Amino acid sequence: MSANPIHQDPVTPEDAAALLARGDICAIPTETVYGLAADAANSDAVLAVYEAKGRPRFNPLIAHCTDLAMAETLAAFSPVARALARAFWPGPLTLVLPRLKGTAISPLVTAGLDTIALRVPDHPLARSVIAALGRPLAAPSANPSGRLSPTSADQVRRGFGGTVAVLDGGLSQAGVESTILAVTGEQVIQLRAGALSRQDVADFLGCEVAVATTDAPVNAPGMLKSHYAPRATLRLEADRPEPGEAYLAFGTAPRHDGPLFNLSLARDLREAARNLFAGLDALDRSGAAVIAVAHIPDEGLGEAINDRLARAAAPREAPADAAAPA
Ligand code: TXA
Ligand code: MG
Repeated sequence: MSANPIHQDPVTPEDAAALLARGDICAIPTETVYGLAADAANSDAVLAVYEAKGRPRFNPLIAHCTDLAMAETLAAFSPVARALARAFWPGPLTLVLPRLKGTAISPLVTAGLDTIALRVPDHPLARSVIAALGRPLAAPSANPSGRLSPTSADQVRRGFGGTVAVLDGGLSQAGVESTILAVTGEQVIQLRAGALSRQDVADFLGCEVAVATTDAPVNAPGMLKSHYAPRATLRLEADRPEPGEAYLAFGTAPRHDGPLFNLSLARDLREAARNLFAGLDALDRSGAAVIAVAHIPDEGLGEAINDRLARAAAPREAPADAAAPA
């Protein structure tokens, strides 16, 4: 059921679907980050995902669908929600919508909420797996809770010490998680900055998109201060690294003898988002105690990058089981 210590990695989407159909969990590639998937209708399998990640049960999962038609079997779409889905699916957008009652989705997926988070990933392998299973997949990011999200199969394997089956789909193209929007009738609120910029959504809607405050009535339970954390400490807004520090650069970097990773020499935010978790992971593995991070402009995808960096830099005094990162 759970993370199987002896497993064979699936090679085709059909192999992965066969694992999932018998209640095993399996990591799958998506365009944002790798997901740790379970058949969303199988409570034992969904439980195994929570257990493998060490994730608190009150932190709900995203149901991944092949298309809008599958998603409409799970939630009530307002006209605005449907327009957003038509415009941005498949793609890095998750919609939090009123959940339909009486569906086959395990109550563990939604953690008791009246809403459900839905997304259609823009990755052919991910959609093939869901199509072969014939049902939605519950899939959080494939990292132990609170750690860096994985953008490669190897990162998943390292994260779980090789105990999780992984369908290898190469590097994730977007590199940060999906943008989460809660849609209530005509009202749209961003719960999580992500790979679809708030500006792109605003341009489509023709109005600004508000950001949820932490005390807002609608919230993503997983948006905790400390999250996406490497082992090293982060020092943000660093013009240059101090001796002994590793440096996560953006654009032309100062001379540095220690470990250095450039998110984007050309200062391209899309490239920087794609490289973010891989870069943090590489510098973390260099063994440096501190990773100094260059200033990243807060526009476009910079909003999602800075959100992840702020959480990665946040104090981690809360014990792992009291926190709720995803
Ligand atoms: O790009 C992504 O979204 C990746 C890939 C694998 O699809 N998935 C991902 O899942 O980032 P996860 O579990 O790491 O983050 C999902 C976030 C959590 O913060 C959770 O609290 C929130 O979505 N969420 C899920 N269902 C919700 C709901 N009904 N209402 C509010 N927030 C919800
Ligand atoms: Mg996550």
